[in-house]
Amino acid sequence: MASEPQFVEHARDGDVHVLRIANPPVNTLRTEVRAGLLDGIKAATKEGARAIVIIGSGRNYSAGAEMTEFGKPRKPPSLPEVFDAIEQSKVPVVAAIHGNALGGGLELALACHARVAAPGAQVGLPEVKRGFVPGAGGTQRLPRLIGLEALRIIVSGDPVTAEEAQRLGFVDAVLPNATGSDLEHAAIAWARENAGRQFVLAKNRTDRIAGYDAAKFDEAAKKLTARSRGQESPQGCVAAVRAAFTQPFEDGLNVEREQFTRLVQGEQSHALRHIFFGEREAQRIPDLPADAKPATVNRLVVIGGGTMGGGIAMSAANHGLPVTIVETSREALEKGLARCEANWQRTVSSGRLSQAEYEKRRALLSGTTEFEKAVGVADLVIEAVFENMQVKKEVFARLDKAARPGVVLASNTSTLSIDEIASATQRPELVVGMHFFSPANVMRLLENVKGSKSNPTAIATATEVGKRIGKLPILVGNCDGFVGNRMTGKRGPQIEKLLLEGCLPQDIDRVMEAYGMAMGPLATGDLAGLDIGAAVRKARGTVAPVADAVVAAGRLGQKTSKGYYDYDENRKRIPSKEVEALILDLAEKMQVRRRKIDDQEILERVLLPMVNEGARILEEGIAYRPIDIDVIFVNGFGWPAFRGGPMFFADRLGLKAVRDKLAHYAEATGDRNLQPAALIEQLAKDGGSFATLKGPAKI
Ligand code: NAI
Repeated sequence: MASEPQFVEHARDGDVHVLRIANPPVNTLRTEVRAGLLDGIKAATKEGARAIVIIGSGRNYSAGAEMTEFGKPRKPPSLPEVFDAIEQSKVPVVAAIHGNALGGGLELALACHARVAAPGAQVGLPEVKRGFVPGAGGTQRLPRLIGLEALRIIVSGDPVTAEEAQRLGFVDAVLPNATGSDLEHAAIAWARENAGRQFVLAKNRTDRIAGYDAAKFDEAAKKLTARSRGQESPQGCVAAVRAAFTQPFEDGLNVEREQFTRLVQGEQSHALRHIFFGEREAQRIPDLPADAKPATVNRLVVIGGGTMGGGIAMSAANHGLPVTIVETSREALEKGLARCEANWQRTVSSGRLSQAEYEKRRALLSGTTEFEKAVGVADLVIEAVFENMQVKKEVFARLDKAARPGVVLASNTSTLSIDEIASATQRPELVVGMHFFSPANVMRLLENVKGSKSNPTAIATATEVGKRIGKLPILVGNCDGFVGNRMTGKRGPQIEKLLLEGCLPQDIDRVMEAYGMAMGPLATGDLAGLDIGAAVRKARGTVAPVADAVVAAGRLGQKTSKGYYDYDENRKRIPSKEVEALILDLAEKMQVRRRKIDDQEILERVLLPMVNEGARILEEGIAYRPIDIDVIFVNGFGWPAFRGGPMFFADRLGLKAVRDKLAHYAEATGDRNLQPAALIEQLAKDGGSFATLKGPAKI
């Protein structure tokens, strides 16, 4: 009979006992691990151990709680029970950390008598990013070890290195050369040497929480939560950490537990976990053969050094990939390179990039006007020239001739058909879209577009290089606007109608920003430039009365200091009297009776057209799964992760309600595009949801 897997291995080195967490790959603290630790501590004590070392097997200490166990009945022993056993142990328990000690993993280490670490190990409490607070004493023990600095670590959720943790005071020693399996030996030696010391447990320390200054605490909390508008978990963290400073340990644990229980059941935490797991899921490409191999890419060539080409080139250099920009003239090239330099220099000035690192990146970036010569040595080409089919086809025909056989040619087009672009080449199977988002050196999203002929090598190469240069590549199908832009494009007509029926730009943006969007749609339009949309409408022969009138008044957005808003010299937006008059005038001319529109209606009329288009995108097989769409919006369109994305929004509303509301708004506003998509009708009828929907296996 096969023996049960051992989730905690118990080893002995003389009188120092080692408990090795063996739940690969990241050693989450699932039930069997908790039970194994508890048994191990009891057994080691019984056997007369002098010290106990808790370590992770493989490449990590522990990434924390097993999130898949959340929401299910908890099986004993709980983490606090394990921690009690550690804290009551007569022999010192030493955590030996390598790789990551995150969340519950770090909390386990904090309950130990001491912590030692391998150089470069990462320690942190990322719970806030999943929408809750550390739930096993982290908010109480960390402040007792390091004081107010704990607030920053807990509210930001960002990990710090073992070296930083030692400086702050929650790692006792970073053991030199203790990498890989050496850490265990070094930790055993450290434990043996220090076993006789009087360790003070974190929970019994008072020196770092003494002299609590409410005003200073409030100021730090305000700064740390300033950027998390609308999100609950940072506030929960503040409340729990405050309790560490103001209440006895046990009472503080109760405050922490209340916050944890409330938040973990809440919608925001649900949404954040949906995105957290979704980002992994969305990178799985179901129809990519397992043996698909990406091309080896040692040199990237970017055609066009404008806004996007420059940003793409910076991303490559930022991640160590040599890159050449090709431009049409010396002047354009110098302008493009100078823009990259200025961008990097700004980061240097702000202290977020060292001069040495800047120089390293700059040295990886080169530029030329010699198209054929540069393309001839490229391993991958990304084209980012003007958005014009004729121009793109000419560029691709030329690329096809200049590039070596087998080299993948990608286009950064935001709307044009990859198939038509590919048709200009003799290698359509090696043509794909790599759609970056602006600013391309910052935004994480990359929509990789599969043309009807794109082969597995082309897809695998776009995916691999995307990851390598720091992006989150999501594969989508070929259509006008692909996923993100196609969906956001659909809210335009409803925004126009809202403006005519009773809203002003600031009303719509206020509602969307209160929902959590980084920026409302009208302010975003001003930022991008309203002439872009006007040009698209002209090309398509469509009208948007309000937007057209705003552009006709010479209000092109921030670049002319006026668009839907007026802008002062600091680019601060100010509601515009001119725009208000223009809207009222238009409404009168078009005989639209203005009324007061409530916030919920604004929210629904902006979001539901996107949901409806998202459903059509799934019907057409343009995205593999609903979660891909949510991940796209969170990473490329300023959708707050704690709201979970458009398809998550629909699920929360319920598909029946979505169908009814869409049908109602279609009827009330005469917008045929709002007729519920067939998929929504189907889900509403079957009582289904996007969460349980199996998308197309092939796109
Ligand atoms: P841009 O106008 O800033 O830059 C285009 C550059 O390409 C110019 O510097 C131009 O001199 C150069 N160029 C034109 N023809 C060339 C050729 N034959 N060889 C070499 N260089 C050539 O335009 P931007 O904004 O960078 O857009 C580029 C592409 O990226 C377009 O397809 C656009 O739709 C797409 N895109 C733009 C986004 C944005 O927010 N601006 C977002 C995502 C995609």
